[in-house]
Amino acid sequence: MDFQVIYFSKKGNTKKIAEAIAFELGVRAEDIKNAKLDGNTLVFLGSGCYGGKPAKSMTQFIQDNSFTSRDVALFGTSGSGDGIEVNEMESVLRSKDARIKGRFFCKGKFLFANRGRPNDEDVDEAKKFAQLMRT
Ligand SMILES: Cc1cc2nc3c(=O)[nH]c(=O)nc-3n(C[C@H](O)[C@H](O)[C@H](O)COP(=O)(O)O)c2cc1C
Repeated sequence: MDFQVIYFSKKGNTKKIAEAIAFELGVRAEDIKNAKLDGNTLVFLGSGCYGGKPAKSMTQFIQDNSFTSRDVALFGTSGSGDGIEVNEMESVLRSKDARIKGRFFCKGKFLFANRGRPNDEDVDEAKKFAQLMRT
């Protein structure tokens, strides 16, 4: 099984998680700006939360590509809540008949909140998530 890890990150938090997941899978994390879906990959898609939603470019990417029967694993970071950006990505993907294998979420620092997040523990959890998804 081949893997792709595609992310949008305005401030680097989601990028940090994307890179941990990609490292674990032996691939490079791809900024969504330059990303193209390959054939038969399990694709990890991740975004920060902006105004209660995933990045527009992430939603657009999902809309622009075919996900029928494709395995997808989702991840996200946000200042508060517990993954509403992931929920939205998941619901658009389900409407496109993707197979959602799993999801990971952690807090990301924002202004004075969540200092240091994602921290080492978050990164370790993300790596475990990557391993779980590949089985
Ligand atoms: C423009 C902007 C809008 C944001 N809006 C929200 C929000 O609505 N809800 C929330 O929980 N966090 C919000 N945040 C915090 C981010 O979701 C959080 O810092 C996240 O980890 C950012 O990921 P990134 O570093 O990969 O861009 C916002 C951050 C920015 C910069």
